[in-house]
Amino acid sequence: MIIADVVVDLQYGDCGKGKVTHHLCRTNDYTHVIRYNGGCNAGHTIYHDGRKVITHHIPAGVFFGIKSIIGPGCVLEPYQFFKEIRELEEIGIPARSLVHIAKNTHVITRDHLREDGADTAIGTTKRGNGPAYRDKYGRKGKRAEEISSLQGFIIDIYEELHKSDAEEVKILFEGAQGFGLDIDWGDYPYVTSSHCTTASALLNGVPPQAIRDVFGVAKVYETYVGAKDFEPNDPIFDEIRTVGEEFGATTGRPRQCNWMNWNLVEKAIKINGVSRLIVNKVDVLEKVGKWSLYQNEEKVNFSTSTEMKHWILNRAHELGIKVDFSGEKDRI
Ligand code: IMP
Ligand code: MG
Repeated sequence: MIIADVVVDLQYGDCGKGKVTHHLCRTNDYTHVIRYNGGCNAGHTIYHDGRKVITHHIPAGVFFGIKSIIGPGCVLEPYQFFKEIRELEEIGIPARSLVHIAKNTHVITRDHLREDGADTAIGTTKRGNGPAYRDKYGRKGKRAEEISSLQGFIIDIYEELHKSDAEEVKILFEGAQGFGLDIDWGDYPYVTSSHCTTASALLNGVPPQAIRDVFGVAKVYETYVGAKDFEPNDPIFDEIRTVGEEFGATTGRPRQCNWMNWNLVEKAIKINGVSRLIVNKVDVLEKVGKWSLYQNEEKVNFSTSTEMKHWILNRAHELGIKVDFSGEKDRI
């Protein structure tokens, strides 16, 4: 029997999925944590034992001794992968025994990195993501099982998850990027090259009936990194960027900021089948002392944090879901 929870980002990435995953791993008895999309374009910032750790490829299950799998929906860059394994081992995490790669995961090659390195149109992370997925779908890609240095990590994810019908398999699917960057639902062409929805988790070897909870993660304001113009001309967003430390975990680029677009969040909730909404970084707007969001292209202003939270709570309740708000004090 397979039970799976999914962590999915409802905006443009960087909403704190790492933190949520970390919390869920601590409080649930998962047997596996599986990354289901993207490559090392992702950067998950995790506070573990008071230490800030950034992972790009490796799922957060490693911090809890849980088997952590890079699923076939991902693309993997071997050099970065081994760098992370070493970094985790240096801080005492037995990554080599916990981390596995599905044999049918595609790899990012030196050529992919070179090609993506020249991108200026989209503002990619230059991690080879787009070219790797293009070659996968163009049937010219290389799979992890073909790479000799990866042999010790390779598994058959079907065997792993379905090997015994009697054994309970409890999975946490850890998503990368976010709904606004999704190849189909995002603002094309300013998107990433993978699927960033709950549906994407299902492409990694589990049936739809396995899904239990879908944790939708949003931020109380929006950020986006990439080539399109996103941030309105207002110094408040400089303040939000500074207070919220909104600089890319992978590239260090300043993230463009804006108020939350509730319509995007609502659409992402519906399409992903979110059962629980987590709104992060509430403390940032509390420090800045301004609270707004957009609904139907109109700006809705609030005079306190509580007022804004109530507004979000009411909308979420209309959609039949629970909400958690978190800020600095809740950092793990
Ligand atoms: P790519 O995924 O590197 O091809 O980049 C495509 C777009 O997605 C660019 O706008 C990137 O900044 C954005 N992007 C990719 N990964 C992340 C992420 O983990 N967080 C935020 N933005 C991302
Ligand atoms: Mg990130």
